Amino acid sequence: MYVYLNRIKRFRDILKHRNIDAALIVPGPNLRYFIGYKVEALERLLILLISSQFKDLNLIVPMLEYERAKSINIKDLNIINYSDEEDPYRTLTNLLKDLKAYKVGVEGSMPFRIAYKLLKGGFNLVEIDDLIYSMRITKDNYEIEMLRKASRVNEEAIREGFRNLKSSISEKELKRIIEERAEELGAEEIPFCIVQSGPNTAIPHAESSNRKIELGDVVLFDVGVRVEGYVSDITRTIVLGEPRSRHRLIYNIVKRAQEKAIEMVRPGVEAETIDLAARNLIEAEGYGKYFIHRTGHGLGLEIHEEPYIRIGNRTVLKEGMVFTIEPGIYIPGEFGVRIEDDIVVTKDGYENLTKLSKDISEIS
Ligand code: CO
Ligand code: CO
Repeated sequence: MYVYLNRIKRFRDILKHRNIDAALIVPGPNLRYFIGYKVEALERLLILLISSQFKDLNLIVPMLEYERAKSINIKDLNIINYSDEEDPYRTLTNLLKDLKAYKVGVEGSMPFRIAYKLLKGGFNLVEIDDLIYSMRITKDNYEIEMLRKASRVNEEAIREGFRNLKSSISEKELKRIIEERAEELGAEEIPFCIVQSGPNTAIPHAESSNRKIELGDVVLFDVGVRVEGYVSDITRTIVLGEPRSRHRLIYNIVKRAQEKAIEMVRPGVEAETIDLAARNLIEAEGYGKYFIHRTGHGLGLEIHEEPYIRIGNRTVLKEGMVFTIEPGIYIPGEFGVRIEDDIVVTKDGYENLTKLSKDISEIS
């Protein structure tokens, strides 16, 4: 497919520029990014070799993956399979030598058992995560379309959660309803689905519990949904029944902070500026010490990736970057509020992929 060949060509240019002879890619998001192959990382060696000089791509797979690997439709991809009696590391090192590859780029996530064999074989290994992220950090139109699709599924799943919210349903029951709906709508995976209620909302990322939700509780939904590789990550906070004035007060500060940060998004702005927009507003309202995390993170093939929206990140925003904006206020023992949307940087501003209502009493 053209999109993959194009990525590999750009990647080769980057490798050449850095004088790296070849790159090795293990199962995970980068393998999916370069050849569209989704495969579980197991103990048997499975690895893609991209040479910077030669245009053949080599994929070493165990015999039992061969059939699936053959369906990858990419020009110049050689699939080399091995049986359990063979030593795939010997195949790999011979291949590297044939390709005159001695300086070899590897991912930080490469298992040490593979790296160790290569080091013992005399290869010079360099970490290339930043080179790959420099490509993945901006999304093309196809990727943005998948992120849009994932948002639609996620929103519909959260709406199903809203519809089923009633007193005495447990957090876990609600979580299962949301997950089931996301699956019905075509989610490939639901990497996480957090439903919290009452004082649990003050603990960011606590697991859903068996706590039964009561009238007057704050309820927080933070759901991740993967569609064709790409992830949506949305948080909504609502109140079951009539919100108290304190709920409304805190909610409106978070909502204003979130909207202010979103409005700052455009090419040329530094990532930390977006964080500070939300943070300064929450601090000015006197709740700074209750905003205990960064404002957001990049989204794509991974739930957390570059660019991170935090103080100290001077990365300049560019068209095609995608990230969350999710400020929160968490008051221990009371309740917490977080609102999270997925934002794309466009040519002259932003597109908010998240269309779900931000009304504190939205239950329809
Ligand atoms: Co989230
Ligand atoms: Co998030």
